[in-house]
Amino acid sequence: MDLNELINEPDATRLIFGLRDTGYNFRTAAADIIDNSIAANARQVHVRIDITDEGKKYVYFGDDGDGMDSETLRAAMRYGAPVRENLASLGKFGLGLKTASSSVCRHFAIISREAPEGPLNKLAWDLDHVEATGRWEMRGDPLEVHEKEAFEELCGNKGTLVVWSKCDRLLSKNYDEPGGTKEQAAVKRLRKGLIEHLALIYHRFLDQNDTRERSISMSVNDETVEAWNPFYPEKSEQVLPLSQQEIPIEAGDGELLGKAGVRAWILPHRNTLTAEQQKKAKITNKGQGFYIYRQGRLINQGGWLGVFGGHGTFEPHMSLLRVEFEFGYELDEALYVDVKKSQILFDPALDEYLYDLLSNARREADNRYRRKQQEVIVESALDHSAANHSIDATLGIKKPKIESVDETDQTAVLTNRHGSGIKIRQPIENNVDHDKIHVQAVDTIKSGDLWVPVLRSENTSGHTPGVELNKHHDFYQKIYQRARANGYSVHGMDLLLWAFAVSEMDYSNEELAPIFEDIRDVVSSNLKKLLRDVPLPDNVDLNGDKGV
Ligand SMILES: Nc1ncnc2c1ncn2[C@@H]1O[C@H](COP(=O)(O)OP(=O)(O)OP(=O)(O)O)[C@@H](O)[C@H]1O
Ligand SMILES: [Mg+2]
Repeated sequence: MDLNELINEPDATRLIFGLRDTGYNFRTAAADIIDNSIAANARQVHVRIDITDEGKKYVYFGDDGDGMDSETLRAAMRYGAPVRENLASLGKFGLGLKTASSSVCRHFAIISREAPEGPLNKLAWDLDHVEATGRWEMRGDPLEVHEKEAFEELCGNKGTLVVWSKCDRLLSKNYDEPGGTKEQAAVKRLRKGLIEHLALIYHRFLDQNDTRERSISMSVNDETVEAWNPFYPEKSEQVLPLSQQEIPIEAGDGELLGKAGVRAWILPHRNTLTAEQQKKAKITNKGQGFYIYRQGRLINQGGWLGVFGGHGTFEPHMSLLRVEFEFGYELDEALYVDVKKSQILFDPALDEYLYDLLSNARREADNRYRRKQQEVIVESALDHSAANHSIDATLGIKKPKIESVDETDQTAVLTNRHGSGIKIRQPIENNVDHDKIHVQAVDTIKSGDLWVPVLRSENTSGHTPGVELNKHHDFYQKIYQRARANGYSVHGMDLLLWAFAVSEMDYSNEELAPIFEDIRDVVSSNLKKLLRDVPLPDNVDLNGDKGV
């Protein structure tokens, strides 16, 4: 067979367009460009996202790193650039620069120089040009004025500038009025989102006090990117013992490939933090889980990666646990790192190892959340005034008549179904607010019962039968509190328990009182058992806000 028939070169147009869709989004694409700057020893990385009045969008990435001469630049622009000498660098596949850029734009230029006195080298890929020629042919256009200015502004006198133009995929939709206020606002949001993303994924590099990585400063449209450490070490507690913080990772044949590092951080409950601190901790449901670092840069934020339940498992009561997991390039294969270096997989053995390793931390995070959340719920007052009003306003309700009360031994004499002069033991409450006279939730019920009949007065006489609800009972915490958004549900449950309490007093006497007490006790403890698997409401249930 003719050897030439076996050579089967890819179709330039089909491939270069196909490679636009490898799963990047704007943030991950930008991070791939910045990884290259870090690998080139940059100390500063400046990004600019611009939109003209006509709606033309440009993204510039400038660094003051090593730069490239014309030959290196040509090699760098190749799909499948030469293997890097330094394996520990953030780059690996020789593709990131091109695939990340083309995922956002149809024209990307690299402008670079190694030394201040050297020439500014420029090369560009233009997808439309490749399509027109059908060849892997770059563009060698001269430097444009805006590129030269951007180089001076963002790189200084040496380094590398990446310029994305014809940005057809920068924003997720097309705007009717290109460059209009709506599109301008979208670009603004994009900048803000990028700043947040960079603040997190490069936090070890951005924090001058973090000695694990080289210090780098970054900005987006002149706004400095400040490090955001998701573990909030000033306030959180790291609970994994030192002896358990290293995991040896082995190949299938038992050969030691390297070690991964793990630490388990429990953040303080949101309600113990000031507003300022809450902003720093950013405790959200989706923020729980693994934070994975490859070569010091974050590649995955949050989620349990299948270790505890499926990928989408986010339990509010686990929201305080964030696990730091770090590894070096030597474990790429063992951890199945993908081309974008944004995903890893734990194999079943590692999965199980992590499950066991983290079970104590998990239990502790769960306990701390629950303990505080219960306090939060007890403190989170529900409005029972609707029931109080309707009881006030309704005539002809059957209830006992109170003849006298004795506050010191908590007894009352009343006229009820059994006749007059019936003496029963009953909690007596004086000086109760008018609005709470019939129904009130309290945290003083010691018996564990959900509700307790009481005799209550706005001053010290004229007592009327009412009910107290137990704020600590599960039914109150899990059901009542969730019903808060629907006033009628609270109203209705209030009336029901009030009606029970009042008819209990109406039918009670010395002989029957213990039986009624028993019934309340059994109902309350059965409800508690029945509600065991219903989770405590989180702050979203309570306040409808985003935090938990
Ligand atoms: N900002 C930069 N400064 C200096 N050299 C750069 C810069 N960006 C890219 N390069 C050079 O271009 C080459 C190709 O970059 P590219 O991102 O395509 O691949 P990579 O970083 O080696 O691997 P990966 O596909 O994992 O990103 C790099 O190996 C590097 O030599
Ligand atoms: Mg790269």
